Amino acid sequence: MTEVGVGLIGLGNVGTGALQILTENARSLREKLGFRLAVKTVCSRNIHAKKSLVCPDGITRTDNWRDVVNNPEVDIVVELIGGTATARNIIEESLKQRKSVVTANKELMALCGPELWSLANANGVNIAMEASVAGGIPIHTVLREGIAGDSVAELYGILNGTSNFILTEIEKSNAAFDSVLAEAQQLGYAEADPSADVDGLDARSKLAILAALAFGEKLTPSDIFTEGIRRITPVDFQYAHQLKHTVRLLCLARRTADGIVLSVRPSLIPQDTILAHVTGAYNAIWIRGQYGEDTFYYGRGAGSKPTGVAVVSDLMRVAREIRFGSPERVSPFAHERLGEWKPLPISTQELPYFLRFRVEDKAGIIATLATILAKHRIGLDAVLQLPREDWRNLPFVITTEPAKEQAIREALVEIRTADFLVEAPLAMPMERGFGGGR
Ligand code: HSE
Repeated sequence: MTEVGVGLIGLGNVGTGALQILTENARSLREKLGFRLAVKTVCSRNIHAKKSLVCPDGITRTDNWRDVVNNPEVDIVVELIGGTATARNIIEESLKQRKSVVTANKELMALCGPELWSLANANGVNIAMEASVAGGIPIHTVLREGIAGDSVAELYGILNGTSNFILTEIEKSNAAFDSVLAEAQQLGYAEADPSADVDGLDARSKLAILAALAFGEKLTPSDIFTEGIRRITPVDFQYAHQLKHTVRLLCLARRTADGIVLSVRPSLIPQDTILAHVTGAYNAIWIRGQYGEDTFYYGRGAGSKPTGVAVVSDLMRVAREIRFGSPERVSPFAHERLGEWKPLPISTQELPYFLRFRVEDKAGIIATLATILAKHRIGLDAVLQLPREDWRNLPFVITTEPAKEQAIREALVEIRTADFLVEAPLAMPMERGFGGGR
């Protein structure tokens, strides 16, 4: 075999990036592999409208994915259309035809990746998904192979570039969420419908996948406690800075004696931790291993070429297996079999909390809040109030001693009935588990 044939389905942002790398960088890829990675056919629903597509001679074009999967010259099918319906059909059909698959589909892999791996295994082929989480960071390779000898204790990630861009712009320019979101949309960092990003759902799928690799558990994304960033305001950063913290949409997976705790939520993190320095649309993952201790990974989480590199690198690995007839493939989830666990309820975690209130000012507010918190056995750490003129909408913050989230929630239910509140209180945990901030 002098070459391995590739069929590419989906020519959006990632597909065009991967195709560009496969054609422009073909010589270097061949030198590394010792054989040719040959794109045989590309598929897109509107292939005939893609006049500007640079596609070397010999590559056929189609708008029907079955032409790619059924092409006898195609050894590896690359699925880059996203979504869970047609993408699942493409992947299942390819695997049944004993063709390996490379995908960037985090939603599908989070939902049914282990089943697809079983199907791949039964057919003696592979399924690779490096591009599905944190596009430009080879985090799957790290968990699957690089630190496979360790036992992961904790994993913290900034896994959504859109949210990180928005939060760090609010922090930098003191602008409101809506205006920064509009700017992010203009710059192409946010979708016209931003909910998957700003409500934490995209990050949740990514965390489910990384936690499966780290802990060997199949986790249902909807079981993960998730909160988005829509309620974060410049004031939250001002108070967080007073506490030498900042705010990030933190993805967390932590092994405890009772099980795994998972959450995606805006959290206060110490300004002196390396994660606090991740700004703009970048992603980062910080891992603590039981033996190897701390490692940190940083890079672009999305984008045509960074994610294209992840796709092409997966293609190279799978092509080598085909070329050299490797009988043993490493599971894309880093574990031969995944257990099926539910994450521990987040309400059991014990941390200090940052509680931000907006009130119509009058005497006795702090006393009322302190009484309710004390009733729920929550100790106050600090009360912070920056000078403001608008007494009808006065923000201030209470930080607590470490408390069970359940107690915080019960106290907030009671506080919500107070007549002085302008809006529901905002509660964020103050995370302190990682390096630098301890
Ligand atoms: N929309 C995602 C992000 C990139 O903002 O990080 C693709 O997963």
